[in-house]
Order: sequence, then C-alpha cells, then structure tokens
Amino acid sequence: MLQGGIMTQSELSRTLESVFEKYPNLCVVGGAFGDEGKGKIAALLSHYYDVVARFAGGSNAGHTYFTSDGKKMVSHLIPCGLAAGKTCVIGRGVLVNLESLLGELDAAAQILGPIPAKAVLVDQQSVVWTPYHPILEAYFEQVRGAGMIKTTGQGIGPMAGLHRLRTGVLVGELFAGSSYCKERLKQLHDALWPLFSEMARRDLLRGINIPSADQVADGLLALAPKIRPMLSDTSFELCGRQKRGARILAEGAQSTGLDLSWGTYPFVSSTMSTAAGAALGLGLPPATFRHTLLVTKVLPTRVGAGPFPSEIWERESAEQFPKSHPELFRSGKPRAQYLKNVLVAVNAGSASNKDIARYFQVLGDERGATTGRGRSVGYLDLPWLRYAIRLNQPMALALTRFDMLSGLKRIPVVTEYLLNGQLVPAGQMPPSWELAYVKPLCESWPCWPDDISGCCQEDLLPQSARHFLTKLERELGVPILLVGTGPKHADIILRAGAAERLAA
Ligand code: IMP
Repeated sequence: MLQGGIMTQSELSRTLESVFEKYPNLCVVGGAFGDEGKGKIAALLSHYYDVVARFAGGSNAGHTYFTSDGKKMVSHLIPCGLAAGKTCVIGRGVLVNLESLLGELDAAAQILGPIPAKAVLVDQQSVVWTPYHPILEAYFEQVRGAGMIKTTGQGIGPMAGLHRLRTGVLVGELFAGSSYCKERLKQLHDALWPLFSEMARRDLLRGINIPSADQVADGLLALAPKIRPMLSDTSFELCGRQKRGARILAEGAQSTGLDLSWGTYPFVSSTMSTAAGAALGLGLPPATFRHTLLVTKVLPTRVGAGPFPSEIWERESAEQFPKSHPELFRSGKPRAQYLKNVLVAVNAGSASNKDIARYFQVLGDERGATTGRGRSVGYLDLPWLRYAIRLNQPMALALTRFDMLSGLKRIPVVTEYLLNGQLVPAGQMPPSWELAYVKPLCESWPCWPDDISGCCQEDLLPQSARHFLTKLERELGVPILLVGTGPKHADIILRAGAAERLAA
C-alpha cells in the first residue's frame, strides 16, 4: 500500500462539502450492469445531504458500504444514508417487501443502535410484495427456458408488471381498513387464480401451496403496526422539506444496463434505473435532479443472463466459481498464493481468458450481496459508457475499484463495437439481440506495478495510474471526480482538478 502525505478525513470532508454544496439535489446512478459501488458512494455523499431517497428497484438491490467508523452495512431497500443519521426515503418508484424492510431495520439497529422513528419513510402508494409474486416469477422464468433472465427471485418483475396492469396492492392499502385490504388482495388473487390453477395442473408449482387472499392479508396486516410510523406521502414530504432548504440525494439501484426500457431488454430489471427515473420515482418535477454522478467500476461485472460485450469469460463459470472454490473468496494463504501466481501468468501473457476472469473475480470478491451468485467480470467498456453518459448526462464520474488494476503491466480496454463489419456510432447501443454479436475492439492501456489499494491522494498514485485517469476522461468527455481504491469509507481519492472545476 502506498504511504505518505495522506489527505485527512476532515480535509476530504471539507473538499467534498465545497464541491457538493453547489449541487443541492444530486442523483447517483450506476453506469453498467449493477454492483458498481453506488452504496459506497451514496453513503460517502450522504453526509452532505439531508435526505437520501431510493427511487427504483426493490429488495433485488444489494448495497454494501462501511460506516465512517468501519462497520459493514448491507442494505437492500433502505437508502445508504442511515448510518450518517439522514432521513431515508423509500419512494413510490420502489417495490417494497415489508418483511425484508423490517428485517433490514432490525439488522441496521444491531449495528447502529436504536433507529429513531421517522428515520425511514416509505411511500404509502408503493407496490407491496405478496407471496404470489415470487411464484409468478418462477413460472415466467421456467417458461422462458433457455432465454431465462436469471432474476434475483425477489418477485420484482411481477410486482412491477401487475402494478402496470393496475392489479397491484399498495403499502397504504393495508391501512385502509381490513375489509378493504382483504378485498384488494382478493382481486389480486382472483386475477391470478386461472394461472395458478393451470400451473398446478401442469405440476409447475413444485409443492408450493397458493395462500388464500385472507392468509396473505393476515400476514401483511400483522406487519402493519410496525410499518405505520414510516408511512408517508413521500413526494409531498420531499417537496415540503425542499422548500425548507433540505438537500436531496437520490440513490439509484440496479443500473443503466438493467433499466427496463434503456437496458438490455429483456435481460433487465423492471424499474427505471437511469437518472430520469429519479424524479419519476420520487414524485418531484423533472428539473429537480439536474446533476448526476455516474458510478462505474473500472472492470464492470454482470450477474444473471444478458449481453455483456466486454465479458472476459463465461457467465456460468463465474456464477459457480465462488461455490466451487470458497477458499479463494476468504482471506488466507490459498487466496494470496492464487492471486500471486495468476498475476505472474497474466503479466507474462500466458494466462487464459478463464484465468484472467477468475483472477479479477477473486480479487474483487465479485459475488452478489443479494443472491451470493458469482459475478462475471468484463474489461472497461468505452462504447457502453458513452451510451450510459448520453442517457444520464452526468456532471462527473465516480470510478470504483481502480485498485484492481494494481500490479498489472497492461489491460485491454474496449474502445469500439463492430457490428456486421461496421463501427457502432458513439452513444448508440444496439438492441440485445444484436449486442450479443458485436465484436469489441480493444486497445491495450498501461497499468502500474504498485499496489494502490487504500490510496486516498491523487498525487500518490503512480504516474501511469494518473495517465490512465486523464486518458479515460478524455475518451469519455466527463471529469472523473472520485476514484475508489478499496471497500472502506476512506478508500477514496477526490481528484483536485475535477473538484475545482465542479466547485467553480
Ligand atoms: P430482477 O431485478 O430480480 O428481476 O432481476 C433481473 C436482472 O437484473 C437479473 O439479471 C439480475 O441478476 C439483475 N439484477 C437485479 N438487481 C441487481 C443488482 O442490484 N445488481 C446486479 N444485478 C441485478
């Protein structure tokens, strides 16, 4: 690890404050296929905002971050501002599993101590999870056969889909009187019943009993007293707070590549996860979030199915690898030896793509926080990022896991896509059925021998690492403001030039 004149936490805080005071409402979204480290960045920036609000996704998301005193937090529904004592809003664009939410609150209280009432607000008109949703999801996955999306199994697609069919039940409906609530759940049950009957007839339920509407209602109503204090008209609440000067950080979930409409459909999640979704999911005017920070990993990853042009090796192999080699995914001698040996082979040019992909997967501990599935790793993909930048128009980038390139002589970077012999124009993205066949064209970019993990000062980076960043900025036309060098809160570099330009 590099040593030297380290920027102190208070210097970092002061500089971050001077940059972000210019951006009273900020949106943080992911640039690739999820798991970019949005949680870490949102937690870091939450200190400069009053409210942190989730606008999309549901408990399919898995945001891992560390508190400023080093405690590890994993959240699925609750925005990453809880540890900083900020009001956390779960907006109307989020699909809410109440049991998960309460479990998460309990887990957070174990780490942070008692959570004040009203620390978390849930929109009263968010769609509520029922046991019907994962059953439907499993059915649709089965029907897709080889075209399976490989979802997280949280019932997200059916929750979003039934909402659009105006058959979803909303969180607040649990409080509108028990007979009203039971009637709404009966409508949902009855609408789905022909499908469930057919599934039973075809033996697709695999022993699962379909609960009656009353059983589902009783289960949800039992949770209601604990939810009641959190219930809110979040759009009205946010608007009121804004008028009183509150600053809002909109925390994205999933990512550009998983957005229902702008991702790699049908291999996507089911909500609006680009920056445009923030205003919609929180019920604020479109002009509210004029500034976006796009978070992207230096080596993107993907879980589940779907095209991933810069992928180094096979998805299936990546998914299974942590299960077949658990010793490589915990600290210890086997892991250290493995990483050392493969790095030598990578630098000697004798490592296969499979070895390289596995090296990065182990190095980055690339496993899903929600499902535990291994993530497949890809090379830095400029055509994809140009598309994400066109859609989200970020004022700056946060580049995470930059330390993963430490020790490498060089790394391929995808600079163009070739489709049917033609270059794909910058900013355009072919649809999934074509994206699967694009040929990524690569350049080899120099890396550096030093281990930069934990480095928190730009001028301590090796020269080639600094060149890497300026070259990437030039290629993308967007300043790189933050550079992640490890999982901890303080493992971050704030780039002075970008900070000055953004604070001006
Ligand atoms: P769903 O959101 O569970 O319906 O899953 C749809 C697709 O999005 C699957 O490929 C999932 O693996 C992927 N996905 C959903 N949430 C996340 C996430 O937070 N990180 C990474 N991938 C995700």
